[in-house]
Amino acid sequence: MSKILVTGGAGFIGSHTCVELLDAGYDIVVLDNFSNSKPEALNRIKKITGKDFKFYEADLLNLPEVEKVFEENDISAVIHFAGLKAVGESVAKPVEYYHNNITGTLMLIQAMRKHNCKKIVFSSSATVYGVDNPVPYVETMPTNTSTNPYGYTKVMIEQILKDVYVSDNDWSIVLLRYFNPIGAHKSGLIGEDPNGIPNNLFPYIAQVATGKLKELGVFGDDYDTPDGTGVRDYIHVVDLATGHLNALNYALKNKGVEAVNLGTGKGSSVFDVLHAFEKACGRELPYKIKPRRPGDIATCYADTTKAKEVLGWEAQYQLDEMAADGWNFTKNNPNGL
Ligand code: WQD
Repeated sequence: MSKILVTGGAGFIGSHTCVELLDAGYDIVVLDNFSNSKPEALNRIKKITGKDFKFYEADLLNLPEVEKVFEENDISAVIHFAGLKAVGESVAKPVEYYHNNITGTLMLIQAMRKHNCKKIVFSSSATVYGVDNPVPYVETMPTNTSTNPYGYTKVMIEQILKDVYVSDNDWSIVLLRYFNPIGAHKSGLIGEDPNGIPNNLFPYIAQVATGKLKELGVFGDDYDTPDGTGVRDYIHVVDLATGHLNALNYALKNKGVEAVNLGTGKGSSVFDVLHAFEKACGRELPYKIKPRRPGDIATCYADTTKAKEVLGWEAQYQLDEMAADGWNFTKNNPNGL
């Protein structure tokens, strides 16, 4: 039986995608090095779906380990999540980010090519749109700049994959550009479980709600937005996971390279997210206005036309449900997995 390899499958988006793949009847193989995830996530995937799957604790930088997965399993396609993704950390550690994300992807592509596996769904990011494109972002816009090394790894890996297709038209490649994934599976068994103090807004608010953190710092309230705070396109992680299922089905039937936005097409401010979370947890949460964060832009949200036309996919969940499901996971797992 051919299988789908999910690299980074123990992570936040990877684990939610594994659930959707298993529920849809796919056989999967998961590879993860637990650099930003925990083994418990794999147990939770099995508990939610009632299904088992093979797992390899491996690092993409170790080519023999990666090749072993393809030697021992008939892999028909890969969904590639594995990579470092903290924007601020990438500014401090560019070499580690370029090496881990780009060399790791090159190892994966070499192993895929050697075993005639030429279908890949890649976890890209809205960060590739940089700061000069007008919103809403459309896939045909130029994506050759970023504001940080993390974003540049996504720009460069998209370029590598486009060049792989030019070298061999037998490949089928879908580049999924995520906006801001938040929330959790409705079971409350899997969710966002960052190591250390969260960089991102939603998990930070969640830890203010549990009392682990004192108050939310709002990074600037003087942007040119309705309430002065940053506006982003927040998407429920389960919507994101079903977007990967549709992208995989598309990749299995087609050849070529397609970049597709996975967002809601709707912008929400920092205060919108804070108030949605207060509604979910039933109490007001403390915050303080802080200076702007370097590298932040005022507004970012998706044009979702292509996702609907090419993948037959659109986001289903609204912000209130993202907050309710996120709080449900945090409430059930105050200390993470
Ligand atoms: C959202 C808004 C902040 C924290 C990042 C990556 C992007 C993608 C999603 C991977 C902004 C404000 C935040 C806080 C705040 N990741 N904020 N206080 O920066 O839009 O995108 O995550 O693909 O690549 O860049 O997400 O959650 O950090 O910030 O006021 O403590 O919340 O200024 O307006 P961002 P974020």
